[in-house]
Amino acid sequence: MSKNSYKIVVLPGDGIGRDVTPEGVKALKAVTETYDINFEFEEFACGGQYFLETGREWDEGAFDACKDADAIFLGAVGWPGANLPDGNIAGAGIIFGLRFGLDLYANVRPTKLYPGIKHKIHDERKLVWEPGKVDLITVRENTEGLYSPLRGRLSRGGISELAVDSRVITRKGSERIIEYAFKLAERRERGSPKDGVKRVTCVDKANVLEGCRLFRSIYKDIAERHPSIEQDFAYIDAYTQWLVRNPDWFNVSVTTNMLGDIASDLSAVLGGSLGMAPSGNIGDEHAFFEPVHGSAPKHAGKDKANPMAMILSGSMLLDYLGDKFNDSRAVEAGKAVEKAVEKVVLDGKTLTYDLGGTSRCSDVGSAVASVIRNSK
Ligand code: NAI
Ligand code: MG
Repeated sequence: MSKNSYKIVVLPGDGIGRDVTPEGVKALKAVTETYDINFEFEEFACGGQYFLETGREWDEGAFDACKDADAIFLGAVGWPGANLPDGNIAGAGIIFGLRFGLDLYANVRPTKLYPGIKHKIHDERKLVWEPGKVDLITVRENTEGLYSPLRGRLSRGGISELAVDSRVITRKGSERIIEYAFKLAERRERGSPKDGVKRVTCVDKANVLEGCRLFRSIYKDIAERHPSIEQDFAYIDAYTQWLVRNPDWFNVSVTTNMLGDIASDLSAVLGGSLGMAPSGNIGDEHAFFEPVHGSAPKHAGKDKANPMAMILSGSMLLDYLGDKFNDSRAVEAGKAVEKAVEKVVLDGKTLTYDLGGTSRCSDVGSAVASVIRNSK
């Protein structure tokens, strides 16, 4: 059932997170003026900088508000010198607290090369990847695998001698992420740019790892239930080179936690800039949306960072609300936000430094918001 108003918790966090988050919110506010959707925003300071000021990663009540919200919108966390007593970066507790605490098992990372984007891998004479040839989504398991907190160290006589990180692959964890990937492929409008075929690629290392063998066998079972989607398999090492050489083959790729962490950062480059890469952390009850990039301290507070990844994360947030609450207005608005980004990129007049422009972060945000306002 669609809602009259959606509760959104906003967590700007650190560094450029504080620059790009208001631009993401600006886009969502432009949506409310055009698409008959309302939001109630509640903002909390959090992260490493906040930890240095207050001794806390975030305020009491922030996690509960996140639990209560329809969706969470996060900038980035992490700040030089801001570390917890256990050595972890201050802010990690927020990301992992939300992922584990709200059981956000699907880390969804779309990569698209929009027309008009030039980047470092482009050759002067020839586009290595033509726009439209990169349009894939990595679906990474987000709650187990090598990042399960089952790790330890053995010291003898005060000298660290052994460290173990255990990788956990469960049937439940694999089933739900693989099912998510197939449903996503069914919901997507387009198949792979190369041949239009809808496919889900299972990325693993099943030739060596027991956990990957289980993951792959569960993939095969679930694939049987989705006959309209083509089955596809790649070992992670080969996958990385196919991703760079033939990104147009891929449509949706599903994989375990750490393999997906690495593969999705690689695929983010194919979109031209980290500043263009959005993501969602999605569970059955809750979700948060954030750009793939971090807090980029050297650019912080300069109104310089590219806000498109944050704005596109807002587009994913709208699509999530639309799907979850069966709200076609939100789905339509999500598409309009993405189209607005596409238009501003193609127009080429208002771009930040990473895309070869000289515009400010806030100017790009305003340009996108203005296109959204005029999109209907
Ligand atoms: P980063 O993603 O913050 O920045 C790396 C470089 O990418 C920047 O120096 C900049 O040149 C470019 N870049 C990133 N985002 C951009 C944008 N929106 N516009 C233009 N250029 C952009 O990665 P880094 O430097 O490794 O990490 C900085 C901090 O962020 C660390 O504390 C790290 O732990 C944290 N981090 C947090 C993440 C999160 O909140 N989910 C994810 C990754 C890193
Ligand atoms: Mg990463």
